[in-house]
Amino acid sequence: MTDKIRAYIDEVEQFSTDKIEDIENFRIKFLGKKGILNDFFAEFKNVPNEQKKDFGKAVNELKESAQAKVESLKSSLETKLEDKGVYGDLTRPAEPIDIGARHPISIVKNQIINIFSNIGFNVSEGPEIENDWHNFTALNLPEYHPARDMQDTFFIQTNPEDILLRTHTSSVQVRYMEENKAPIRTISPGRVFRNEDISARSHCIFHQVEGLYIDKNVSFKDLKQTLIYFTTELFGKSKIRLRPSYFPFTEPSAEVDIYWGLQTETDYRITKGTGWLEIMGCGMVDPNVLKNCNIDPKEYTGFAFGMGIERIAMLLYQIGDIRMFYENDLRFLEQFKSSL
Ligand code: DAH
Repeated sequence: MTDKIRAYIDEVEQFSTDKIEDIENFRIKFLGKKGILNDFFAEFKNVPNEQKKDFGKAVNELKESAQAKVESLKSSLETKLEDKGVYGDLTRPAEPIDIGARHPISIVKNQIINIFSNIGFNVSEGPEIENDWHNFTALNLPEYHPARDMQDTFFIQTNPEDILLRTHTSSVQVRYMEENKAPIRTISPGRVFRNEDISARSHCIFHQVEGLYIDKNVSFKDLKQTLIYFTTELFGKSKIRLRPSYFPFTEPSAEVDIYWGLQTETDYRITKGTGWLEIMGCGMVDPNVLKNCNIDPKEYTGFAFGMGIERIAMLLYQIGDIRMFYENDLRFLEQFKSSL
């Protein structure tokens, strides 16, 4: 019996091939489930006791040499294939990996956050499903106030209290003032909802960034200076004008225009020939709002502002249709690359 094994060991040692199929057949013949080695292992129990030791040793030797043979044939075959260039030029550059890109809304949002965090503003967030108090009443928009008409609202529930999709991120300033003590410097980016017809210029879902600054002796000139800093950082344009306007939560209120210029045909088109573009609303926080949020208007004053991120992104990237932001067309999205 042991001689038979020895004969197999010789066969194993002599075996040579450079074909992958032959190596596999060899492996199956010796090491496979129904292979020679398993037959010998099964035979073990029938071997007389005094021969068991030699038999076992020989079988193990056969096993090891068969395994070693398979390994060495495989690795020499691989080296040969590599030498022949079967795997191609291994020094060639790798296939590019598609790493994706941020959405333009996120890029612009992050830029705005960066600009304001450089002057000490933190970032705050609030819920998209709001109650009447935070979205309207606390902001000096009591029930039946006509200014509520400025924002067509999606109501979720009207009884016992009004629950709605927030129409602006100004709701977050109320929450922030309720939960934090002055001085306050915060910006609140987020998604807002309005029951508006979808067109190239407006959508029922969009994004805003709200800003709030509350401290002692904050004045309108602090507001203006902050806005000039912001427009210079974001657009590289420092010429702005504040047009008197009305928001219930600020007094006085203003709309901010930046001077875009009239260099190109596009400048003419988007500024309707005036060179000026409206980019946000702002004002001094109305004392009633401070009171509603438990801040003493005799001790503290502050300013607030709010802007639409889509509008700013459309200006920065010259995008003509707001709907493109939500279609997730890769040909559109892949054009935006940013480290932010
Ligand atoms: N909430 C306003 C809107 O959605 C934007 C706004 C205007 C916010 C003036 C402000 C502000 O904080 O002071 O149209």
